[in-house]
Order: sequence, then C-alpha cells, then structure tokens
Amino acid sequence: MFGDQLVPTPCKVVARRDENSDTSTLTLAAPAQWFPGFRPGQFMMVYARGVGEIPLSISGDPAHADHTVVHTVRAVGAVSRALRDASVGDVVGVRGPFGKGWDLDSAKDDLIVVAGGVGLAAVRSAVLEAQSCGRFRRVVLSVGARRPSDLLYRPDLDAWSQGDLVDLELSVDVTEPDWPGHVGFVTQSLNRLVLEPGRTTVLLCGPEPMMRMSARTMLGKGVGRKNIRVSLERNMQCGTGLCGHCQLGELLLCRDGPVVDYGVAEPLLAVKEL
Ligand SMILES: Cc1cc2nc3c(=O)[nH]c(=O)nc-3n(C[C@H](O)[C@H](O)[C@H](O)COP(=O)(O)OP(=O)(O)OC[C@H]3O[C@@H](n4cnc5c(N)ncnc54)[C@H](O)[C@@H]3O)c2cc1C
Ligand code: FES
Repeated sequence: MFGDQLVPTPCKVVARRDENSDTSTLTLAAPAQWFPGFRPGQFMMVYARGVGEIPLSISGDPAHADHTVVHTVRAVGAVSRALRDASVGDVVGVRGPFGKGWDLDSAKDDLIVVAGGVGLAAVRSAVLEAQSCGRFRRVVLSVGARRPSDLLYRPDLDAWSQGDLVDLELSVDVTEPDWPGHVGFVTQSLNRLVLEPGRTTVLLCGPEPMMRMSARTMLGKGVGRKNIRVSLERNMQCGTGLCGHCQLGELLLCRDGPVVDYGVAEPLLAVKEL
C-alpha cells in the first residue's frame, strides 16, 4: 500500500504525454517513498487538489514500478479534466493500489486482450507483463477506438505490431485518411479469430456493451465463463470496502473487483452503468 489507505500521498507529475485530444498519460513520483509495486488491473485513487478524487487504472509497466506510478486519464468531467490538464511539476494525491487485478498467474497460455477507448489503460500493464514474463504462447490484442487519431499508446502499438508475441488488431468506428486497418466493431475481428478454447484466457475492458458483445463472441467460440475476465469500472469513492459506493449485487467492486470472471459479471452487466 502506498502511504495511508485513506490519506493521499502527494506525488509530483514528472512526465506527461498527450495521447489524443482528450487523454494524457502522467507519470507520478513520490520523491521520499518507493512505490511498492502493483498487479496489472489494479487501480489507484488519484486526487486533483481542490477538485476531487477518482479511480484510475495503473497503466505502467509492472517490471518498472520503482518510485513512480503511471496513469492515463481521459477528460470526461471536472476531476478527470483537472488531472488531464496537470503539468510537469504539479502535485496530485495518490492512494492505493486497490482491487484485484487480471491475475495473469492463473491465466491459460493463450491470452486474448480486448480493449475499447480508455479501457486500453487497464490492460496495457497486462500486455507489458505478458511480454516480459515469457510464459505466454500467444497474445492477441484487439483494440477499438472512435477514430485512428484517438488510439492511445501509439509507440507501444507500433512496437507490439513489430514484435513476435503480440498479434495486434485495430478497429475504428470512423475512418480517417490513410487508415489501413479495420473499420467496424472489435467483435468483427474477434469473430475471425481461430483459437483453442481450452488454452485461452480473455481479458476485457471498455464500454460495457463492447464487453458484453465480446464475451458472447468468446463464449460462442467455446471459451468458458471462468476464463473470460472483465474489468467493471463503476464509480468508486473510498477504494477500501468501507463506504459501499461501488456496491454491485453482492460485490464491493473496489475490493472484490474491478476484475471479475464473466460468470460473476454477466448478471451484473444487465444493470445499466451508474
Ligand atoms: C477501477 C476504475 C478504473 C478506471 N480507470 C480509468 C483510467 O485508467 N483512465 C480514465 O480516464 N478513466 C478511468 N476510470 C473512469 C474514471 O474514474 C471516471 O472517468 C472519473 O471518475 C470521472 O470523474 P469526473 O469527475 O471527471 O467526471 P464526472 O462528472 O463524475 O463524470 C463525467 C461523465 O463521465 C461518466 N463517468 C463517470 N465515471 C465513469 C466510469 N467509471 N465509467 C464510465 N463513465 C463514467 C459520467 O456518467 C458522466 O457522464 C476508471 C474507473 C474505475 C472505477
Ligand atoms: S468505493 Fe467505498 S466500498 Fe468500494
């Protein structure tokens, strides 16, 4: 745990990269403390001074979680806008890490990772870990975005597309000039996938309709509910299982999630996003 569970630790923004028009990646450092590490899929509560606090996935490389933590934030409201607008040298508050991650240790040897929009932030660390651990036979990364210029992590996408392990599939809703990739839903690329269901684990993060459709496609290909994992990014407040704000069915998502098996998530996804 980084500092106190309930009291944010001040961290300085030491790097900032604009991913697209509304999303930036921030590297945060606490000079006097060593970040204790994290598991892919976990999140932090990040506080913009005088504005408020929101949950953000840790999007950095687990192998390089020294004294820094990396977040990618899309500006959708007051707090996320304040964080997206933070400059190098600004100080924000950080608590965590919280929640259960993707649990790659128990994953099968073929990994299918499906991410829509800023959902790629929650799976980036899993793809980086899959690359460095050398345990996976195959990683398919299927990424959906509104348009090509909205795609996050362009340097990573280029590197992954050139490497041996990751098969990268990019899908956009609306095309732009010189776009060589697919136009349409990520599920259309998933439909074409040939896989061995007994050797496959699926990670899903993005808009809930995308996760539902992707999960159904994978079920149709014979992957079991236990081997389909989804990140349920409903709103959170305390992050520690105390306030009940993130309750969904019998789960407190900050403690029991945000990653859960599809067998658990399927009935919960019938409840519209809060
Ligand atoms: C575990 C977890 C991990 C997350 N990781 C990231 C991340 O890595 N990067 C990132 O940019 N965002 C992430 N989010 C979403 C982020 O927390 C919200 O965008 C943020 O709370 C919005 O707060 P706000 O004050 O800026 O806007 P608000 O004024 O609270 O909301 C603005 C708009 O965004 C919608 N909204 C708010 N929260 C969510 C949500 N959780 N999912 C979908 N729509 C929402 C609201 O309905 C409203 O329409 C994550 C959420 C959770 C629960
Ligand atoms: S956010 Fe408070 S119990 Fe989960």
